Amino acid sequence: MAEITLENVQAALAAVEDPTFEATLAKLGTLDEVKLEGQKVSARVRVSSPTESVREEIRRRVEKALETLGMTQVSLEFDIQIPTRETTSNDPIPTVRNVILVMSGKGGVGKSTVAANLALALARSGTRVGLLDADVYGPSVPTMLGIQGHPSSKDGKRIEPLQRFGVKLMSIGFLLEDPKQAVIWRGAMLHGALQQFISDVNWGELDYLVLDLPPGTGDVALTLAQNLKVTGALMVTTPQEVALIDVHKALSMCKKLDIPVLGIVENMSYFVDPSGTRHALFGEGGGAKLAEEWKTPVLAQIPIDPAVGRAGDAGTPVVQADPTCASAKVFTAMAENLTERIARMHRERAGGEEAPVTAGPKRLRIVQ
Ligand SMILES: Nc1ncnc2c1ncn2[C@@H]1O[C@H](COP(=O)(O)OP(=O)(O)OP(=O)(O)O)[C@@H](O)[C@H]1O
Ligand SMILES: [Mg+2]
Repeated sequence: MAEITLENVQAALAAVEDPTFEATLAKLGTLDEVKLEGQKVSARVRVSSPTESVREEIRRRVEKALETLGMTQVSLEFDIQIPTRETTSNDPIPTVRNVILVMSGKGGVGKSTVAANLALALARSGTRVGLLDADVYGPSVPTMLGIQGHPSSKDGKRIEPLQRFGVKLMSIGFLLEDPKQAVIWRGAMLHGALQQFISDVNWGELDYLVLDLPPGTGDVALTLAQNLKVTGALMVTTPQEVALIDVHKALSMCKKLDIPVLGIVENMSYFVDPSGTRHALFGEGGGAKLAEEWKTPVLAQIPIDPAVGRAGDAGTPVVQADPTCASAKVFTAMAENLTERIARMHRERAGGEEAPVTAGPKRLRIVQ
């Protein structure tokens, strides 16, 4: 067994692989401050996603690496540093690190349900999150998040978003006298309203801003892509073939607009009956086929669960209302998969070996 020296401890830890990037901490440059006091090691590791299982896995790997030196005592701290998208000097929201579009060519597939549960799952993981209801024709956020009210302005210039469950929210529904009132938008008005929701709302520092897009996303996605560089789009589909045709259209539009596709979410994927048996009511493999064709991962398969719909209608999405139920766990895993995918995409974009670095203070320090 090698001698216990600071150098040997450092070398053992440097060789540990980060599960998100499948590269060593040394290569990633994410191992900070290794200390050895007697038999006790303490170290700090930087991670690029808020996923708890990633930190747990790193801890397991670190413990295993130190075992080879006969050491068992280790205290690990994690800095969570969420990577940031590219911003130009005229970006309307440079303090928003990631902009995620939740879209689908098709209506009623669960975009708003996915967007609301995603935002809550991200917030519950400790990150700073906003949810923008970009569906100016049929806003869902006021109902799904159980919130009404008119946003105010502190300085007479920027609108303060409403907040619920720690998520900053903006929706056209907050500005209408009667949220069920129909809004008839012409192209230019739609363009202007959306631009305002992005640039005139005081979003502040956010790790993730989730956008719930209306169906038939052409106009909206185009407006957004013209104004800022989004992190990417999450494509929601159901397993049926009809849904898939529309999703193909939305995917080709993303390609044209140079919007990266973050992954596919297959909603209403299966139904689990009370005996625990899984039924694929609408066929199987639709999401996987799409993912293969468009070279993007399936980030989640979400069951049809009446509790998911009920929770949304009641104003507390299932991830918040019942976080340990099976459907909530699927949404949480979806959020985790997404944050890791985003981290990997940022690293690839930078073209380097190192983990993505964001200017400014590292945000969260977690001792695990
Ligand atoms: N996994 C699910 N299980 C059960 N019900 C669901 C599920 N996902 C969505 N729903 C329900 O299906 C309906 C449509 O969902 P949602 O409003 O999220 O779709 P959408 O794609 O945003 O629709 P639109 O195109 O109108 O914006 C809602 O009543 C919602 O509660
Ligand atoms: Mg919707």
